[in-house]
Amino acid sequence: MRIAISPLCAEFPETHEERNHHMHSENTEQTLVLIKPDALKNSLTGYVLSQLSEFHTGLRFGGAKIVHVHRMLAEEHYAEHRGKVFYDSLIEYIMGLLHYPDDPERRRVIALVYQGQGAVQKIRDICGPTNPHIARDKRPGCIRALGTLVPLKDAAGKEVGERMDNLIHASATDSEAEREIKLWFKPGDFPPLMRSFPTEVNEDDHYYFKEDSLSAVHSRGGVCLVAPGDVVWKSDLDTLRSVRQGLTPPAAVKAVAAKYLINYSAEG
Ligand code: GTP
Ligand code: MG
Repeated sequence: MRIAISPLCAEFPETHEERNHHMHSENTEQTLVLIKPDALKNSLTGYVLSQLSEFHTGLRFGGAKIVHVHRMLAEEHYAEHRGKVFYDSLIEYIMGLLHYPDDPERRRVIALVYQGQGAVQKIRDICGPTNPHIARDKRPGCIRALGTLVPLKDAAGKEVGERMDNLIHASATDSEAEREIKLWFKPGDFPPLMRSFPTEVNEDDHYYFKEDSLSAVHSRGGVCLVAPGDVVWKSDLDTLRSVRQGLTPPAAVKAVAAKYLINYSAEG
């Protein structure tokens, strides 16, 4: 009896160099979407997924996960807003602390990667303007038109600004998409042919993370980020290696560690 081998199977095993080459041979533009805690609380998940479906957008799912957003991840994701008046409430919002103060198990976002031509702009258009009031005014029908504004008050009860509960996050540019996708997802979260950024197999010793620093050996409370043989974003491995060699890393170690700590523990 002859066994038919599909063209896809015949290609395996594919080396990382071949896979990295393959990545550029079709449209692999990707964008990160977060369905935020207010959308989950208001049962809008299905609505958002329908709006972003392949039928409407021509885009395909790359990856998906349910995430308990820990503080380091929230702070890395919104690093550009550090110091602004709405920053603390933004972090508490994305962590689910504001919508689920008494239900820590319900503090989640749904993180999605969509792939295809024009992915970043297509999804930004369907989301609409950041401010839900402007969204309702200028783009009725967009997802954020269903959001709300919440007044922010100081300790004395004086209104000092507002929080924008706008249901969904979408990457703003290609380079932001790359940064954000690598912040929320490991290569292993994607089907191998849906990885849009270069990967490398770690041939170094282990990388453990504890109290913001790295080590090659485990000690109590340390988390193993990367073990020998693991497939890693190449840029992450460059950062880990630089730190180990005492060089200035190209990116923050926390930005590498954050994704490996996703759903690791229930702590904030
Ligand atoms: P995201 O998709 O969530 O990144 O929104 P965006 O790209 O449309 O806006 P941006 O990245 O500038 O801001 C991130 C989040 O911070 C927004 O979703 C808002 O919740 C909040 N935010 C941004 N700008 C303001 C502002 O001027 N005032 C207030 N209150 N919140 C803001
Ligand atoms: Mg943004």
